[in-house]
Amino acid sequence: MEIIIQPDVRLASLTGARLVAGLVRRKSDAVLGLATGSSPIPLYAELVEMRRRDGFDFSRIRTFNLDEYIGLDPEHPASYHAFMKRHLFDGLNVPGASIHIPDGLAPDVEKTCRDYEAAIRACGGIDLQVLGIGSDGHIGFNEPTSSLASRTRIKTLTERTRRDNAAAFGGPDRVPCHVITMGIGTIMESRTCLLLAFGKKKAAAVAAAAEGPITAMVPASILQMHPRTIFLLDEEAASGLKRADYYRWVYDHKPAWQKG
Ligand code: F6R
Repeated sequence: MEIIIQPDVRLASLTGARLVAGLVRRKSDAVLGLATGSSPIPLYAELVEMRRRDGFDFSRIRTFNLDEYIGLDPEHPASYHAFMKRHLFDGLNVPGASIHIPDGLAPDVEKTCRDYEAAIRACGGIDLQVLGIGSDGHIGFNEPTSSLASRTRIKTLTERTRRDNAAAFGGPDRVPCHVITMGIGTIMESRTCLLLAFGKKKAAAVAAAAEGPITAMVPASILQMHPRTIFLLDEEAASGLKRADYYRWVYDHKPAWQKG
């Protein structure tokens, strides 16, 4: 696990965007796993800016989102379909057929989950998975006690997550209870995981995930077992880490050939 601590959200997001762009430069048809929520918004804004300013070409990438609310129309402003359109896809040149987001209106949820897994496999697996982390340690919508080997499936959100996501719906009671989410086993098969966490409210979850025991009570802690996971943090999100000085030193002394 590599832990990169940056002075603020903007610099951390720029570092993340450069990692994504570097991958797409090396592999134009890269498969990106994408997250929603507040954490990746500045990274997505950087990618959109790269497209607008430099004409960066995203036309061959394929994308798979982590999750979607069940029962929400894709046109609903709080749906993750609408979120991705607003924050990323409207500003990039990714063909619609290359964009995959779980179908929250699917009549057969189990089938749509199986098909989602098959579509990821058919694309050759995810090269880089962007992740946020819930204040309870969830990744995707794999809440505490989720199986660490789980696949794409239906999950029930905790009250805490529904409270955390209430703003987009105008109150916690309006947040759907059920979601479709990639499983932890699905996420762990990505070749690189890039977890973004910003702000004081993520400090405890980040510390538990990076330095605590591996446990289904903190789903992100399984990333300790992943061969290439990067945590990209601002100072506040890093404030609970016992070894923060060591992570800073490692990053400052990283050999040039390892960067990019
Ligand atoms: C969203 C997702 C969630 C969020 C997490 C953090 O697609 O999978 O795991 O990444 O809830 O959300 P924010 O970034 O809003 O704090």
